Amino acid sequence: MNTITLALAALTLIPAPQKMSVTDGAFTTNLTVTYTRDAKIPAEGYRLRVAADGVKVWSSDEAGRFYAGETLKQLAEKGCAPLVEIEDSPRYRWRGVHFDDCRHFFGKEEVMRTLDLMAMHKLNRFHWHLTEDQGWRLDIPGYPELVKYGAVRSSSPRHGTRPNFWQSKDQWQAASDGCRYGPFYYTEQDVKEVLAYAKARHIEVVPEIELPGHFQAVLAGYPEFACQPDFANRDPLCVWGISENVMCLGNDKAIKFMEDVLDYVTKTFPYEVVHIGGDECPMTRWKTCPKCQARIKSEKLGDVHGLQPWITRHFVKFLEQRGKRALGWDEYLLGDVPQSAIGMSWRVGHGGAGHKCLTPGEWAAKGHDIVMTPCSHCYLDYAQGLQDDPFQYIGGNLPIEKVYSLDLCAGVAEKDRMHILGGQGNNWSEYTWNEYDLEWKMWPRMCALAEVFWLGEAKPGYADFKARMQTHRKRLIAQNVNCAPIP
Ligand code: ACM
Ligand code: ZN
Repeated sequence: MNTITLALAALTLIPAPQKMSVTDGAFTTNLTVTYTRDAKIPAEGYRLRVAADGVKVWSSDEAGRFYAGETLKQLAEKGCAPLVEIEDSPRYRWRGVHFDDCRHFFGKEEVMRTLDLMAMHKLNRFHWHLTEDQGWRLDIPGYPELVKYGAVRSSSPRHGTRPNFWQSKDQWQAASDGCRYGPFYYTEQDVKEVLAYAKARHIEVVPEIELPGHFQAVLAGYPEFACQPDFANRDPLCVWGISENVMCLGNDKAIKFMEDVLDYVTKTFPYEVVHIGGDECPMTRWKTCPKCQARIKSEKLGDVHGLQPWITRHFVKFLEQRGKRALGWDEYLLGDVPQSAIGMSWRVGHGGAGHKCLTPGEWAAKGHDIVMTPCSHCYLDYAQGLQDDPFQYIGGNLPIEKVYSLDLCAGVAEKDRMHILGGQGNNWSEYTWNEYDLEWKMWPRMCALAEVFWLGEAKPGYADFKARMQTHRKRLIAQNVNCAPIP
């Protein structure tokens, strides 16, 4: 057997396997697979041998067996496969894609297509962003007004405009498309279908229910859960940005509402982790709300800064009592929050509605598990540096080479690295209108992240990745994926 390096191999696997040896130039058309369980192989890992007399696969679990199949699909796409031996397993256990169905709604078919593409790239967490200022997308039994008002907004910003929350109503009006958007939401049956589809692809679905900020779509349905129920027309926010209309934390009925929602979510989604948002919550309304002020006094919280940690503690414990773990955007860890709470590190040195920013290394040193989604490398709504790009972006500059350079454990002390669970690509959809737009932004940059999450520090380097990507892009295009070019 002639072992050759990945850089020289004709093989074009994405993500590249941890270890591979190739019998140079030899192929087989005998693709009969024999499977053997081997308890010594790491979780989600596999061994794959393609020989003249057929294919042998070993794994310790079903996920590993499934990933051997995904590797074989790429090897054998022309009906024959090169003779290879592969030993492979993931460096990180959280390999995620975030999907914002709120600013724009993509629907079940695009969710399932994303799940197919995730499986192809050995990605295993689908972070489903279901609630926002601009739309609520999940039907909740007992709260019919949520989708009646929260799942439809009276207008959105037109293509090419950039109105924001802090601008005047006149500026909003001038940028408005005047088109009713929705109602768009998922029923219990839709969720069941998505869960079954994801499970068959070894993907856990992580629902996100935002609290206490990014809450205006709830308030469209139930204005009584606001500090000051005085905002427009029972409408979700019709511009992008952060609404100051947040959850009133002095109102027991608002808290009971969230308990009911999360109780339903814990029963509907079978996995351990539930995302409770926590990012970018303005405290403006709490400062003048008599109910919030009364809560600060009765719970001895000091001032408005004590309110969010108080509600976070409540829901971290609430989820724990139901056998679940809370995950949230990193600022929700500020204050005295239990160590069991997982953080999603997204901010790189900036505040997010004025909150203090800690590095992933600092969070990990405090004992929190962390999922890495730094906006510097993982925000796929940032521009990708293409000439003549037909699509609009939220801003930023994130070419694929920069995405590939992400090091999830950079700045994290050796002793704390076990807290870095993995990473995730985020697909915020303010400036993403439909599936063509979404796929263009996600692929091929998500391929780079998939390789970073799978191989970690063992990734072979951008030049090697880019060479393999030329073929892999054709593979994606053959599946009708609107994959952007590689600059
Ligand atoms: C975020 O980007 N607001 C988490
Ligand atoms: Zn209040």
